Amino acid sequence: VGRRRKVKIKEYGLKIIDYSDECRGVAKLDDKTIFVRGALIGEEVKARRYKNNASFEEADTLEVLTKNPDRIDAKCEFFHSCGGCSLQYLSSENQIKLKLDLVKNMFVRGGVEVENWIKPLTSDVWGYRRKARLGVRFVTKKDKAIVGFRERSSNFLTDMDSCEVLHPSIGKNLHRLAECVEKLSIKYKVAQFEVAISESDTVLILRNLEELTTDDKVILRNYADELGIKWQLQSGGVHSIENLSESQSDAPNLTYSHPDHNIVMNFLSNDFTQVNFELNKKMVNLALEFLELNPDDEVLDLFCGLGNFTLPIAKYCKSVVGVEGDLGLVERAKQNAQTNQINNAEFFKADLFEENSGASWARKKYNKALIDPSRSGAAEVIKMLPKFGVEKLVYVSCNPATLVRDSVILKELGYKIKKATVMDMFSQTSHVESIAYFEK
Ligand SMILES: C[S@@+](CC[C@H](N)C(=O)[O-])C[C@H]1O[C@@H](n2cnc3c(N)ncnc32)[C@H](O)[C@@H]1O
Repeated sequence: VGRRRKVKIKEYGLKIIDYSDECRGVAKLDDKTIFVRGALIGEEVKARRYKNNASFEEADTLEVLTKNPDRIDAKCEFFHSCGGCSLQYLSSENQIKLKLDLVKNMFVRGGVEVENWIKPLTSDVWGYRRKARLGVRFVTKKDKAIVGFRERSSNFLTDMDSCEVLHPSIGKNLHRLAECVEKLSIKYKVAQFEVAISESDTVLILRNLEELTTDDKVILRNYADELGIKWQLQSGGVHSIENLSESQSDAPNLTYSHPDHNIVMNFLSNDFTQVNFELNKKMVNLALEFLELNPDDEVLDLFCGLGNFTLPIAKYCKSVVGVEGDLGLVERAKQNAQTNQINNAEFFKADLFEENSGASWARKKYNKALIDPSRSGAAEVIKMLPKFGVEKLVYVSCNPATLVRDSVILKELGYKIKKATVMDMFSQTSHVESIAYFEK
């Protein structure tokens, strides 16, 4: 049981004829489909297989023999080994065009019509990423620490100095963080840094399963001062997270804002926040534009997190209810409503994959709704939308496969997609953020 089959190394020449839904090149060999990382349509490549299934194989591009004219050089010097992002060989404009085409095709295959594809939403394409989990390892053989993402084709960490996608406060300092780890007495025990970057502060959570010595704390403080970051320590569950610095004036200020709506959001370092703040502002504005809110509207915001959409919505409607599964986020959403002096937003904790018809929020009527689920989508809860009276719905999705699947359900329930597009939330990576506006 669980014995891993070793994949026999195979190198082959392939012609790329299509793209997969995850932006990989697709080739055919003897009726078998081969998904090729790093290859563009029309290209002939030399590739190496790393996975062999009965019906398909997966391979990495080793050499591009005939180039697609859109191919460019990757900006990041670690791109070819690092598994953090996979599309740097296309310009950002061509990446988002490709993602739009892929999502359009997925809707066609799903048999759901989109009346109007609007222009993709774009924003910062480098140095945008404000949330990340960085791997940390002290490699005895090399007598050095590595801080970075996993390699593309292994479980090892990439030996990288910098990252072009991470916000520069961390992206430019990976080698300095590695240097800091090397000086710690617990250098063998540090496995990851959780990164959270607000509009003003950069926080790194160090999971310290082993007690830090006084010297370790001095080292961390020195690097914090030099790099302009703030350390938090986590010795157990999320509730054990505490600031390294005991001084209150040094506590991190974790906020982001929606200036168009005069809203400032507070969050904790391990909370879910959208990774790309500039794109997030535009995304919230587009959702509001779709919803065409007016003072009579009663709105439901499902998977509301800390109120990222809920609070801007509250400013333009009669009332809004946010529902979220993570209790901490629900508490933060309530606090955010209070600190922004918003009195027409209520928040509830619920598992939206479960039956909820008895819940107080589920016995009310709503004429408009927004949903923003995690990758697995919202197949269960969307079935309740007609009962709620929802006429207009915005669906924000980080996984087009579940968006299309759920759109099929919504179609059966009488909802039509009026407008949709993709958004460049995760530039340089193969992740796709989309938005669809439905009317009943
Ligand atoms: C993509 S995030 C969106 C959060 C928020 N709308 C925002 O823009 O920041 C998805 C949210 O769904 C929540 N979630 C995931 N599974 C859930 C479930 N089964 N029931 C309720 N909420 C869930 C997560 O905690 C997370 O806050």
